[in-house]
Amino acid sequence: MSEKNKGRFIVFEGIDGSGKSTQIKKISKRLAGFGYNVYSTFEPTDGPIGSLIRQMLSGKLATDQRTIASLFAADRTDHLVNQENGIGLKVHQGEIVLCDRYYFSSYAYHAQHIDMKWVIHANSLNADILRPDVTIFIDVDPDLCFERIKSSRNNFDMYEKIDVMKKVRANYFQAFDTLKDLEKIIIIDGNTTMERVEDRIFNEVKKIIKGDSKI
Ligand code: TYD
Repeated sequence: MSEKNKGRFIVFEGIDGSGKSTQIKKISKRLAGFGYNVYSTFEPTDGPIGSLIRQMLSGKLATDQRTIASLFAADRTDHLVNQENGIGLKVHQGEIVLCDRYYFSSYAYHAQHIDMKWVIHANSLNADILRPDVTIFIDVDPDLCFERIKSSRNNFDMYEKIDVMKKVRANYFQAFDTLKDLEKIIIIDGNTTMERVEDRIFNEVKKIIKGDSKI
């Protein structure tokens, strides 16, 4: 398959409340308007391993951080290779895959508890299977993210949550630096209106899709 007709794998990353899912919906609509086949997906998945992970994240199932980091890597492998709706299949079929979180989420979140090198190693098979054409990080000040999510959730410790967000953001930047020679990473300033962020993201997505005449 020529490069021109191949699909694309575009990953969105950011801390909680950074607006990833809203932006994915908007970008997906815009691309569909140009006639592209767009497939939006997310991690943890809604498959069997992802469901197990969600039960652990909610506290319904007790776990430990190494187990959960390993499960995220396994969920990701299934997300890539499963023959029903795997990302590999979609890209091969020429679709533009927009994915809400991928392995950089693992590097940023799990490095709070375990060595980042280990997490990168645990995901090396996934990186070998499919590296994103681009990872778009929507960078939003943790204080602003906290303000955004405060209204939709109740009853969590404000300082603890902000501290976690700051740590996760710092881990993202550490991972970007570690992997800068292997990965294409675009950082978008998300501390502005959703419309401006959308335009900035769309410009980057266009560059990735260029070579195709639709845009
Ligand atoms: P997500 O569904 O994006 O959060 P939300 O419920 O706010 O929409 O992700 C759920 C959580 O999973 C999020 O806090 C980040 C975490 N996570 C990891 O810890 N490791 C990973 O590899 C991924 C993909 C997510």
